[in-house]
Amino acid sequence: MEYFNKRLCLPCLPFALVLEKRWSLPVFVSALVVGVLVVTAFNMGLLTSHSTVNAVVFPQRSEKSISESTLSTAPAPPPPGADVPRLAYLISGSKSDLDSLWRLLLAIYHPRNIYILHLDRSSPPADKVELAARLANHSLFATVGNVHIITKANTITYKGPTMVANTLHACAILLKKSKDWDWFINLSASDYPLVTQDDLLFAFSKVPRNLNFMEHTSKLGWKEEQRAKPMIVDPGLYKTTKSDVFWALPKRELPSAFKLFTGSAWMVLSREFVEFCIWGWDNLPRILLMYYTNFLSSPEGYFQTVICNSLEFNSTVVNYDLHYISWDIPPKQHPHVLTLKDFEKMVRSNAPFARKFKKDDAVLDTIDVEQLRRTKGSATPGGWCMGDLNCSDVGDEGRLVPGPGYERLAQIIDKYVLSKEFQRHQCR
Ligand SMILES: *[C@@H]1O[C@H](CO)[C@@H](O)[C@H](O)[C@H]1NC(C)=O
Ligand SMILES: *[C@@H]1O[C@H](CO)[C@@H](O)[C@H](O)[C@H]1NC(C)=O
Ligand SMILES: *[C@@H]1O[C@H](CO)[C@@H](O)[C@H](O)[C@H]1NC(C)=O
Ligand SMILES: *[C@@H]1O[C@H](CO)[C@@H](O)[C@H](O)[C@H]1NC(C)=O
Repeated sequence: MEYFNKRLCLPCLPFALVLEKRWSLPVFVSALVVGVLVVTAFNMGLLTSHSTVNAVVFPQRSEKSISESTLSTAPAPPPPGADVPRLAYLISGSKSDLDSLWRLLLAIYHPRNIYILHLDRSSPPADKVELAARLANHSLFATVGNVHIITKANTITYKGPTMVANTLHACAILLKKSKDWDWFINLSASDYPLVTQDDLLFAFSKVPRNLNFMEHTSKLGWKEEQRAKPMIVDPGLYKTTKSDVFWALPKRELPSAFKLFTGSAWMVLSREFVEFCIWGWDNLPRILLMYYTNFLSSPEGYFQTVICNSLEFNSTVVNYDLHYISWDIPPKQHPHVLTLKDFEKMVRSNAPFARKFKKDDAVLDTIDVEQLRRTKGSATPGGWCMGDLNCSDVGDEGRLVPGPGYERLAQIIDKYVLSKEFQRHQCR
């Protein structure tokens, strides 16, 4: 009960909405009506507080659900399989990434999910045509219809704000395309999964839907001098040809209106948080987007800084990026390219994704065989597969058959979500 009061803040609604005076009476009256309705609904048992402990510790949906839907109708019993979440993937590629992107799509395919593919402006038009043709020609993808392409390709300058713009663009399209995905996941064509989607969906079905997975810290270290103070301009924003970012002088001071955070550019974002970033009813995501326009490597800081400076979301961030990435010590600009000799370490890390891989490297075949049980040219098998082993048809998309990958993910959830680590490592 306590959390309902805190989250919905019924008693304080009239005070929270500081509106012009002429609105305050109607607002007060409607708040009163809403309050009475909710209390009645509770008494009649129409609204029940969520029964699981998780739901109490981590409230799921916010204000929106109560005002828009819950009041008018009693919640219908959920359809079978409704507790299985849906993921929304962005897979981005650049020139010569077509085949890696396609392979990754097959490896992470699940009919419950939604996918958006982006080949940036630097990839040849022929590749985009080929990608569209492959999609149209693929009977499974064409039948389910959950794979989309960003047709107006974006210019992306490595390190520049155009990267974040592209991620936000994909988020916006995904919000528009589908009302029922739960998490957004950002991948590049040089990533690859280490678990099946059945493993991942099963693991995520045990996690509160409002959690965001984002590695982050406020200890900027060398990034203070080399990232936060220099100012860059990304010509990708206004020129048709691609060129590197350039530096503007003088340098700027660290911000005092908000606190900077930095971390990994790989993340899993809740739908609620994506809506917060895209819809912009709070000005924070917009202001920070403007600030980060002149920031080098903004994908490593934008979302971290938004979430940790937001009262509404700062308690939902899990300090983990779900990727196995092998850096040099000290880290260089690019991580190690992973090969067969990294295989054991990768799997032992329990991470669901790894990067980065060379196109069709032998280790990808090993992952296909040992972790995904995927045969060449087919989607990774799962409980949804019908008929034959190549998964050319969809049976029950809500049926999950988790395997050993799930056991590893369960350890991740224990370590990062259920342990004390969770709160102790939040926005520090
Ligand atoms: C479409 O699929 C068929 C058979 O699966 C294949 O022979 C053909 O080359 C494909 N066409 C394209 C454009 O990929
Ligand atoms: C999203 O994915 C791309 C890979 O194409 C990556 O480089 C980028 O930094 C990611 N993160 C964000 C926040 O855009
Ligand atoms: C979230 O922000 C509030 C207000 O700044 C702060 O009191 C709280 O400690 C923050 N929580 C986390 C986990 O950072
Ligand atoms: C999958 O198997 C079916 C039946 O065995 C076959 O007709 C189809 O061509 C196969 N598809 C692929 C992509 O191998």
